[in-house]
Amino acid sequence: MKYVVGNWKSNQNLTESLVWLDGIAAIKPKFSSNTTTILCLPFTDIAPFNHKLSDINLPIITGAQNVSHLPPGKHTGEITANMLSELVSFCIVGHSERRRDFGETSKMVADKVQLLLENAITPIVCLDLPYLDEQIKELFSRDVDVSRCFFVYEPVSAIGTGSPIDPVSANHVANQIGFLIDNQAPILYGGSVSSDNVASFVDQSRIDGVLVGTDSLEPMLFAGIINSIA
Ligand code: PGA
Repeated sequence: MKYVVGNWKSNQNLTESLVWLDGIAAIKPKFSSNTTTILCLPFTDIAPFNHKLSDINLPIITGAQNVSHLPPGKHTGEITANMLSELVSFCIVGHSERRRDFGETSKMVADKVQLLLENAITPIVCLDLPYLDEQIKELFSRDVDVSRCFFVYEPVSAIGTGSPIDPVSANHVANQIGFLIDNQAPILYGGSVSSDNVASFVDQSRIDGVLVGTDSLEPMLFAGIINSIA
């Protein structure tokens, strides 16, 4: 199975998200049975997007991009895993933008992973070399079942720059992650993935899919990525 995961980040308001869905429906990408397409949306888009998705019946699974590291309680403004459990099947955690802008640590990310798994949501754990070992050790120290997670190698130099790293190097790091988790979970690559380069990543032996930021925002570009894999 190959995975294409879109990450809209802090883009697309509710209206824009529904227009995007109309756009994808009109383009009719070649959704194939050996590719799973997941789209990680802003919290505010998820419920109406799901509603419309079930009306038009496209094989896209929705996810969130973040979750509180705290359980339900007196935490004004936090969106908990319990809240998300009625809305999504996946949730990105530990994206480097959250580490950089919101001070997220490997411990907080591990808290999030635990809460997501308790709520039957698959965590998509983002990793980069400076904290790759530390993050995985933190998960193991808490007996997290890594076979219920997805992992993504996202070199920060490649995010949003239009310059992906070379697929062989990405595969090398994917192998490193695979070794640490005993090859129990899918491993994706993220960083300037486009329809032109996606095949070169998913053709690598240890890369099971891609996490796509910029090129998930335009239906035509995202459809191009889905079609390239199919
Ligand atoms: P990009 O973003 O595709 O724009 O490089 C990837 C990501 O940060 O998830």
